[in-house]
Amino acid sequence: LSAEEGTRKKQLSNAFRNKIPEELLPFVPRRWWFVGDILILSIPKELANYTKEIGLIMLKHEQKRVRTILGKLGPTEGMIRTPSFEFLAGDPNTETIHKELGCLFKLDAAKLIFSPGNHGERERILKITNENEFIIDMFACVGNLSLPLAVHRKPVQVIATEINPVAYNYLTENIKLNKVENRMKAILGDNRILLKEFEGQADRVLLGYLDSDINQIQQGICLCKKGAIIHYHEATPSKAEIQNRPINRLKEAAKLENREIKILIKKKVKKYSPGINHLVIDVQIL
Ligand SMILES: C[S@@+](CC[C@H](N)C(=O)[O-])C[C@H]1O[C@@H](n2cnc3c(N)ncnc32)[C@H](O)[C@@H]1O
Repeated sequence: LSAEEGTRKKQLSNAFRNKIPEELLPFVPRRWWFVGDILILSIPKELANYTKEIGLIMLKHEQKRVRTILGKLGPTEGMIRTPSFEFLAGDPNTETIHKELGCLFKLDAAKLIFSPGNHGERERILKITNENEFIIDMFACVGNLSLPLAVHRKPVQVIATEINPVAYNYLTENIKLNKVENRMKAILGDNRILLKEFEGQADRVLLGYLDSDINQIQQGICLCKKGAIIHYHEATPSKAEIQNRPINRLKEAAKLENREIKILIKKKVKKYSPGINHLVIDVQIL
């Protein structure tokens, strides 16, 4: 820790000590993340009455880097993955541009998720993707996983489906912002219906939703050419992991589609919540 960082850390803990009762100080978050110029931090329920104070303290602490503070007050829920982020301090405009892997991701950080825990996975698939591939991102959000592939692996072709109009609008904007209109196309709607015309054509399919149903895994498999790769994501409780649930699901879906599969990699992306891991399986469809 440099002298300056040490002073800043001390200032921050003093600021909390001045505003928050002593018995609650152990609950004060020690980590936070950035989406563009917005800072997000998880606030435990014990501190529910002090969210505004925490917001103002963090805004002062990070004023050189951030414009807005958001608090994560509960789990992300539902099919379109709506986060429970509350505006705490700063500029109430929560639209920002996040820069990562040489790409610009424009999004509303209060309405959509750009998970810092998935950074390693975004980087990993960029490294293993080849040029000239035809890639289908079934759950695109604002292009989190597939935009870097279109930007850096030209001349790939990417089709990205997204059911949430808010995410789809940013996805479309990001395609333009990153000047990849000639090789990436966004489609608004349900991937179970939209992707039929691409069956048997993909080299790589991204199943980046943590709760795909068996039909969606089947759809992913249908899209694959012989030898193509699926990156299958799942939020898996530890008990289900011991029982091999993600791999069994892939096997079940492949059987229904009369395809053989070869498991290449099973990896933990991040801890999702207590007792639940976010896993990714790379599987080759034969
Ligand atoms: C967890 S996010 C994944 C974001 C990104 N792939 C990543 O890894 O960071 C899942 C996205 O899939 C979208 N989605 C869910 N069901 C869908 C469906 N049936 N068809 C198309 N998109 C869907 C949601 O709206 C959400 O934006």
